[in-house]
Amino acid sequence: MKNPKRYLVTSALPYTNGPQHLGHLAGAYLPADIFVRYLRLMGRDVLYVCGSDEHGAAITIQAKKEGITPRDIIDKYHKLHEETFQKMGISFDIYHRTSDPLHHKTAQDFFTKLLERGDQFDEKVSEQYYDADFDQFLADRYISGECPRCGHAEAFGDQCENCGSDLSPTELVNPKSTLSGKTPILRETKHWFFKLDKHEEWLKEWIKDGSVDGAVHHNAKDWKKHVVGQCLSWLDNGLHARSITRDLSWGIKVPLKEADGKVLYVWFDAPIGYISATKQWCLDNGKPEDEWKKYWQDEDSELIHFIGKDNIVFHCIVFPAMLKAHGDFLLPKNVPANQFLNFEGQKFSKSRGWGIQQFEYLEAFKDFPNKEDAMRYALIRNMPENRDADFKWDDFVDFHDNELANNLGNFVNRVVVLTNKYYEGKVPTPTTDGWKAPMATALELVKKIQAAIESYSFKNAIQHLMELSSFGNTYLQDISPWKLWKENPDANEITECMFVSNQIVCLLSTCAHPFIPFTGDKIRTLLNQDVVKNGDLATVISQLEAGEPLIAGGHKIGEPSLLFAKINDKKDTSRLAMIEAQKTKLSNIVASEETKSFEAVKAETSFDDFTKMDIRTGTILAAEKIPKANKLLKIEVDLGFEKRTVVSGIAKHFKPEEIIGKKVLVLANLAPRELRGVESQGMILMAENEKGELSFVSPPDEFGNGFTVR
Ligand code: MF3
Ligand code: ZN
Repeated sequence: MKNPKRYLVTSALPYTNGPQHLGHLAGAYLPADIFVRYLRLMGRDVLYVCGSDEHGAAITIQAKKEGITPRDIIDKYHKLHEETFQKMGISFDIYHRTSDPLHHKTAQDFFTKLLERGDQFDEKVSEQYYDADFDQFLADRYISGECPRCGHAEAFGDQCENCGSDLSPTELVNPKSTLSGKTPILRETKHWFFKLDKHEEWLKEWIKDGSVDGAVHHNAKDWKKHVVGQCLSWLDNGLHARSITRDLSWGIKVPLKEADGKVLYVWFDAPIGYISATKQWCLDNGKPEDEWKKYWQDEDSELIHFIGKDNIVFHCIVFPAMLKAHGDFLLPKNVPANQFLNFEGQKFSKSRGWGIQQFEYLEAFKDFPNKEDAMRYALIRNMPENRDADFKWDDFVDFHDNELANNLGNFVNRVVVLTNKYYEGKVPTPTTDGWKAPMATALELVKKIQAAIESYSFKNAIQHLMELSSFGNTYLQDISPWKLWKENPDANEITECMFVSNQIVCLLSTCAHPFIPFTGDKIRTLLNQDVVKNGDLATVISQLEAGEPLIAGGHKIGEPSLLFAKINDKKDTSRLAMIEAQKTKLSNIVASEETKSFEAVKAETSFDDFTKMDIRTGTILAAEKIPKANKLLKIEVDLGFEKRTVVSGIAKHFKPEEIIGKKVLVLANLAPRELRGVESQGMILMAENEKGELSFVSPPDEFGNGFTVR
C-alpha cells in the first residue's frame, strides 16, 4: 500500500465545562498521540489538530452552577485542558478553540455555503419548549423529566443517562424547565434543518463497502467492527433531517438577518473546529493562506479522527454528510473510535467523585518519578480499543513494577551500568559479524510494532515494545557477560554482547517514543545521544536493514540513572502510599454512600390526594424480559378481580423466573402508558435502599389478591 502524501489527524475537541478524566485520555488523545508520534518518527507529513469545544448548553449550565459567566468557564477549562494535555505529552501541532473569531467565521461560511446549495436545508417552524419566567426557549439540556423508555426520573431533553436512549424534549413525561423548575410551555419558532436523509444512500455504501459513488475510498475491513456496527444500526433506522440551529444566546450567530437570537447547534460548529484549527496553524506557521486546503482537499491526504464511542455518529455520519454537502472536502479515511474506560469497576462520575481527573493525578503523583509515562503506559496497556476496559490501581502497580521497571528499566540500567563498568562508558567495538543476527531479530520485533500501530492496535503495539525489551534482557542473561568477565575480560563474546545490548537500548529509545516519550528521551540522555526527532525510526530501520550499527563503537554513553522507581519498595514506601491514598479515597466514597442519610421527606400531601391512589394486593403470575430493553420486565399480575400487564424497570435487579409467585402491591388506577410497545396497566410498589437495591413490598403469602391498601 502506498503511503499518502500527508495526514491530518484530529482528536475530539473537549468540552470546556469541566476537567477531563483518565478515560478521556485513553479514549481520544493517547491513541492519536501514539499514531502521530509514530508517523513523525517515520518522517511522514502529519498535522495533529485539536482545540476546545466552547459552545453548547453544557457550558452555560456549568457556568450557572459555578456562578460565573460562560466566558469565564471556557477560559478556565480551555487553559486547564491545554496545560494538562501538554504535561501528559499529547503533542498537538495546534490546540485551538471554537470561541476564536476565525472559527466563528469558518462555521458561518460553512453554513452559508450549505444554505446556498439550496437543497441541503429545510426551514421549519415548530413548537419548542419555552420558559415564560426566563423569557427564553429551552435547549434540550435545560429540560428534564421522566424517561419514556425506562422511567428514570431525571432524563434530559436530549438523552436519558440511565438507559442511554436519545430523546427529544417533547417525549419526556412531565417535563420541567431546569431554569425555573416550572412546566415549560410550547411556542412556535423557526429553525434550519440539515437534510441528513438525503445522504443516507451514499453513507451506507461508504460505511459498508468503503466506496463512494462506486469508487474505492478505503477498505471497509480497516474500520473497527464496533464503529461500523454502530453506524449501520443508525443507518438501518433511517436518517432524518436534524435541526442545526438553536434559540440560545451563547454560540455562533446564525448568519442571517431573520435569525436574530439564534445560534448554530454546537454539534454543527464543533467538527468545523478541526478546519479552523488547521487554518490557524497555517497562519501561525507562516504558511500561504490556502495551505490548509492541502490537508482537507488534496486527494493524496488522509483525514483520521480519533474519538470516543459516544461521538461515532457525529464523525461517521453527520460530519461526513456536511463535508460532502459542502463539496471539495475529503472524507475521513478512518475513525478508529475507542470504547469507554471504567474506573475500578464503575463508570467515572464527577458528582460521586468516582475516578480521577488528569490534573488531579498529576498533582497527587507530583513526586512520583516519570508519572506521565507511568500513566500513559497503564492506559495504553489496557486501552478500550474494541471493548470497554477497566482501570485498576492494582494493574497500574503491576504494569509499572513488572513491565516498566523490571523489564524495560532493568534492561536499560544493566546495559548502562555494565558499559560504564567494563569500558569506562565507551561502547566496545566487536571484531566479528556475530552482532548482526540478534539485530535482525530485533528488527522483526520493530516491524511488529509498526504493523500494530498502523492498524490502530496500540495495545498490541506496546506489548511488542515490551517484547523487544524482553528480547534484550534474555539476550543479556543468556550470555551473562558478568560470568565470562571473571575468566577473560577481553573475550569477543563480551564485546559483542555489550555492543548488541547498547544497540537494543538505542532502538528502544526510538520505539518507546510514540508510547512513553519522556522515557524515550531519558534513554537517549543515558546514552548521551540527542533526543528523539522526526524521521528517526525511518533512519534506524534503514540502518538495520543495511546491517549498520545504530551506535558506533567508541561512542561514550552517559552515567546510569534509574528510569522507574518501583512502587513496591520496602525501603521507600512513599510511592505505595500514593496508591494507597487513592484506594482509600475510593473506599471512603463507598462507605459514605452506604451510610448516606435518608432521602428527605417530600412536601406535604393531603389525605384526599392519598386516597386517590388505589393500591391493591396481587401475585405475579408470569414475567419476561422485553427484547432490546435491558431494564424492563413485562409482568403479569393477578389482582383477583382481573389480570394486569405491568412493565417494570427492574430487569437489572431480578431475573424473570425468580419473581414468579411473589406477593406484591400494585397501584391499580395509574393511567395506562405504553413502554416499548407494551401497555403498562399499573405499577408494582418497590422499596429502594441506599445501595440502590430493590425489594418488593409484599403482604404475607397467605393474603389474597385484590384487597385494598389504605
Ligand atoms: N465536545 C465533544 C465531546 O466532548 C466532542 C466534539 S468533537 C467535534 O463529546 F468534532 F465536534 F469537535
Ligand atoms: Zn431512560
